[in-house]
Amino acid sequence: MKISLIGTGYVGLVTGTCFAEVGHDVICVDCDAAKVELLRNGGVPIYEPGLEELIQKNVAAGRLSFTTSTKEGVEKSDIVFIAVPTPPLPDGSVDLSYMEGVARDIAGAMTQYKIVVDKSTVPVKTGEKVAETIRRYCKSKVEFDVVSNPEFLREGFAVEDFLKPDRIVIGVLSQRPVAAMRELYAPFHAPVIVTDINSAELIKHASNSFLALKISYINALSILCESSGANVQEVANGIGMDPRIGRRFLDASLGFGGSCFPKDLSAFIKIAEQLGYDFALLREVQRINTHQMDRFFKKIVETLWVLKQKKIGVLGLAFKQNTDDVRMSPAIDLCQRLQKEGALLRVHDPKAMEKARALLPDVTCVPDMNAVADGCDALVIATEWPQFKKLDVERARRMMTHPILFDGRNLFDPEEMENLGFIYKSIGR
Ligand code: UDX
Repeated sequence: MKISLIGTGYVGLVTGTCFAEVGHDVICVDCDAAKVELLRNGGVPIYEPGLEELIQKNVAAGRLSFTTSTKEGVEKSDIVFIAVPTPPLPDGSVDLSYMEGVARDIAGAMTQYKIVVDKSTVPVKTGEKVAETIRRYCKSKVEFDVVSNPEFLREGFAVEDFLKPDRIVIGVLSQRPVAAMRELYAPFHAPVIVTDINSAELIKHASNSFLALKISYINALSILCESSGANVQEVANGIGMDPRIGRRFLDASLGFGGSCFPKDLSAFIKIAEQLGYDFALLREVQRINTHQMDRFFKKIVETLWVLKQKKIGVLGLAFKQNTDDVRMSPAIDLCQRLQKEGALLRVHDPKAMEKARALLPDVTCVPDMNAVADGCDALVIATEWPQFKKLDVERARRMMTHPILFDGRNLFDPEEMENLGFIYKSIGR
């Protein structure tokens, strides 16, 4: 099928590439000429495992191309995806100006029937507004359908998640586009849920908020574990074996971050407010998340007392494993708090060092994770990169001025670390 993607950011690029991979003809459109040029020359603006290879393969096969022209994208495709940013406004609500702008551009370029699909995360009722806008601005008055088709991609696993989805949600205003949407997704062999358009939009915010709630729940339990001497990992294992609950997303941590959960939570709270409901439950999810970082920071301060001039090693800068993304990263937040108190930081991240540099001037970036702790008064683990589990802890203990380890991701066993001579503090244990 012939598809265009308006917006070649993280979601647009992964979506376009994966559609090309299953045999569709894809044009990715972006207003950023430098980005389009980079992609045309074989470059990839983001890091995502497997993505670069798939782009190269599908460009070579002639199924994937890049342009700055929305008109070209719309003219050459039957299904037009909108994948533009929907950033937060200062009050937590969603800035839909890119969405509206693209809806007008599509309307201006349409000369025959198109299916316009919204992939961006948007407040419920946006699809209705998009349809209204296209109708208003389309001079040729051609027929079209607007569909909501939210993405559930995890950063670091986006290609895998796209190619092997657990569900495809298709929200429609009428049945007309359903057959084409099913055909588009047929190569993925995943369950398809067809809903009304408002439900599809709600599913996205509801699902991210639920996952954030799950993390805040276990983080709240971690407080009880710390004050009662219980172990949050054992509690998580115990409750997670109930299939109604499930073990995933029950890892206590210094808090969740990233470009989705914090933003989507604020947006959903605001959406609820606009619909006349005070979603206090989700406000509490946010509060627990902030409190979890405060608690972790307090542990560091209580142990080291004065942070000024203390050398602290930090392992992990990305908001989670497998990504170079540092947006809303708890690790960066923590580093900034430590720096504010005058600590001197030696930092390492397998992928995110480059991007972190802009947010963290005056830190020493250490290319070898095993050398981060050298000469430090304390070491902090802030991101759950699996390779950190293989840290040469014996060496760290020898090379540190004081063997103090704050594990914000529970990567090590408390007893083993204490037997090795560390003062070891983790979350909920
Ligand atoms: C999330 C959703 O998983 C995805 O479906 C949606 O489309 C976008 O938002 P992502 O932001 O890539 O994806 O990250 P995710 O893997 O969900 O992790 C989010 C944050 O929660 C990270 O900071 C992570 O470290 C933290 N986390 C996750 C925990 O603290 N504990 C857990 O048990 C799981």
